[in-house]
Amino acid sequence: MALVCVEDFEKKAVGQLEKNALDYYRSGAGEQFTLGLNREAFRRLRLRPRCLRDVSRLDISTKIFGEQMQWPLGIAPTAMQKMAHPDGEVGNARAAGKAGSIFILSTLSTTSLEDLAAGAPDTIKWFQLYIYKDRTITEKLVRRAEKANFKALVLTIDAPIFGHRRADVRNNFSLPSHLSLANFQGVKATGVGNAAMGASGINEYVSSQFDPTITWKDIAWLKGITHLPIVVKGVLTAEDAVLAQEFGCAGLIVSNHGARQIDTVPASIEALPEIVKAVGDNLVVMLDGGIMQGNDIFKALALGAKTVFVGRPAVWGLAYNGQKGVEEMLSVLRKDFETTMALIGCQNLGDITSAMVVHESQYAK
Ligand code: FNR
Repeated sequence: MALVCVEDFEKKAVGQLEKNALDYYRSGAGEQFTLGLNREAFRRLRLRPRCLRDVSRLDISTKIFGEQMQWPLGIAPTAMQKMAHPDGEVGNARAAGKAGSIFILSTLSTTSLEDLAAGAPDTIKWFQLYIYKDRTITEKLVRRAEKANFKALVLTIDAPIFGHRRADVRNNFSLPSHLSLANFQGVKATGVGNAAMGASGINEYVSSQFDPTITWKDIAWLKGITHLPIVVKGVLTAEDAVLAQEFGCAGLIVSNHGARQIDTVPASIEALPEIVKAVGDNLVVMLDGGIMQGNDIFKALALGAKTVFVGRPAVWGLAYNGQKGVEEMLSVLRKDFETTMALIGCQNLGDITSAMVVHESQYAK
């Protein structure tokens, strides 16, 4: 049977992944309230379509930092993609390239920066960064990203430590022994292949390596060592958005890390308006979290995001059928977005206005 929506890919992935991996990809933090809210909040927004506006030809392309995207959707960084399918990060990035989407590689990838660049040379690639206690580790990653032609650095700022993901602790989650954190050959990935009893291996690794003392001043440090644009990922408040601007970031991603860090934070789409209001004219505001259909992409753009990213949907495509599975998932999502654009009466992204999306409470009066 044809797969017609992201949920169909998720169902296929559920049938294919081992419990350890499935739970890792699927989980949110705590009791997973925000995980559901990331979807629910989109449903609370209503579309106001305009009619009779000639939508025979659509142009949904856009430019981010001067790079041409065929449509306003990219792939968010998710760790350890070879656990989903042997095609791993290269398969995911090639699919993104074919779809004209940006691909963000996680620091915690199972493919190295260099292998990813060689495997997906035609894809626009950004590199997601964590700041390590040992700054030379981070600095080396920056140099390698520059050399391998990555176009931006995405500094994840919502993970000084990792959130409490109950399933991973219950499963004593660890990376299967045939895989490794490929950016760190020679550096022992403590805990990831060898979780202590009762703990999640990934959390063990993070708390031993990532620097929880980092502050906004470290952005100044990062800016001082690279010419690449810096995007901060994990902003949920206008206050932090203003700081991102003050510290010279080129862009930010409104994100709650797929609801994996702290539970009961707002859905990304709920946090977006205050952030756009505070800094939307001054830096590139983007969003991830809960995007599963064309309507969701449209709503995020109408509320001021310049592009959106998907994390889990790409993992489901990958688990289902490797690179081909991600290609298929992206094609389904793209067609759905084009349908939304046409039925709302928008020929191009410039036609999208904030009046086309309102909160459901407007209709309850
Ligand atoms: C993530 N995310 C993430 N973010 C990041 O900055 N570095 C990382 O290594 C990871 N790893 C990761 C693994 C898995 C399994 C998931 C689900 C998520 C967060 C990710 O970039 C993004 O913010 C969310 O996935 C977006 O939400 P959706 O699209 O999954 O709903």
